[in-house]
Amino acid sequence: MTVRNLFLLPGDGIGPEAMAEVRKIIAFMNAERGAGFETDEGLVGGSAYDAHGAAISEEDMAKAMKADAVLFGAVGGPKWDDVPYDVRPEAGLLRLRKDLELFANLRPAICYPALASASSLKPELVEGLDILIIRELTGGVYFGEPKTITDLGNGQKRAIDTQVYDTYEIERIASVAFEMARTRNNRVCSMEKRNVMKSGVLWNQVVTATHKDKYSDVKLEHMLADAGGMQLVRAPKQFDVIVTDNLFGDMLSDVAAMLTGSLGMLPSASLGAPDAKTGKRKALYEPVHGSAPDIAGQGIANPIAMIASFAMCLRYSFNMVDEADKLEKAIANVLEKGIRTGDIMAEGCTKVGTVEMGDAILAKFRALLG
Ligand code: IPM
Ligand code: MG
Repeated sequence: MTVRNLFLLPGDGIGPEAMAEVRKIIAFMNAERGAGFETDEGLVGGSAYDAHGAAISEEDMAKAMKADAVLFGAVGGPKWDDVPYDVRPEAGLLRLRKDLELFANLRPAICYPALASASSLKPELVEGLDILIIRELTGGVYFGEPKTITDLGNGQKRAIDTQVYDTYEIERIASVAFEMARTRNNRVCSMEKRNVMKSGVLWNQVVTATHKDKYSDVKLEHMLADAGGMQLVRAPKQFDVIVTDNLFGDMLSDVAAMLTGSLGMLPSASLGAPDAKTGKRKALYEPVHGSAPDIAGQGIANPIAMIASFAMCLRYSFNMVDEADKLEKAIANVLEKGIRTGDIMAEGCTKVGTVEMGDAILAKFRALLG
């Protein structure tokens, strides 16, 4: 039987509650579908800091490196606001991305029909929205050196972050975007700031060249990132795949997330390059939302983004396309039936907690699998 190794890092805040709902789906798939998932679990973020004084231990890093896929909850909270910068909760996530070389971050923004009225935009602008943001995740200003604050000695300090991109980094993320577009509506919009930044000039050139070289069947458009942000809230349905750098991708994906009605709904996948021998790619799946410390531990968090992240894991790490489709369908169906957690509650719907939402999705998933 195929063994599928999953390494779970629930993290802080609502991370563990949301992960518990995925654990139920894993248990079901093992018991009734012979899925062969083997799970191990570690600590990341504030919980790792409390236990080990680091945002992730070396032992857990080694496990993440070996796993077929990592499922990540969320990190951070006010409790750790004052811990040293190097060991702040986010450092665990950034280290995982960097050391596992997860350069391609896929952030779908899908507006479930049942939630169109929960968006801050008019329902007709977002109904049926289905865009995919491809964010470069291991380069740019997040990791560029120098990254320092120095004392200038005259009562002033100077902070430096470095935006740096090499050709190969742009080429490989552009290729992912074009490949993804081919499986969707065949359109890519690349966003950068070539009018201000040298990295934007190179980004634009390399995306254009990659397109011409290998993907000229895909429709390519370029937009300045600020105009892109504006278009995203003006007429979001004009986009299919958006490809952009690490920092712009961070911002634009939060904007896109809000279009869909709730940040609590969106999953993401972070993928490495396929291994030359096995074809397998390292991968980490996480909700786009944060640890929501204000509601943690109350059993009211929305587990949908975490469950949808597991659906992406089924699709991209294990090629279990039918199961992934059905799990996503189960989520949509439960929403259509009016079952809602507090963050997406609407008039006439039934308000449920984290566990009930998880149970409802699992029940529908089981029914769809037949
Ligand atoms: C995200 C988050 C992270 C980022 C934080 C938690 C470091 O905002 O995944 O979008 O900035 O990349
Ligand atoms: Mg972000």
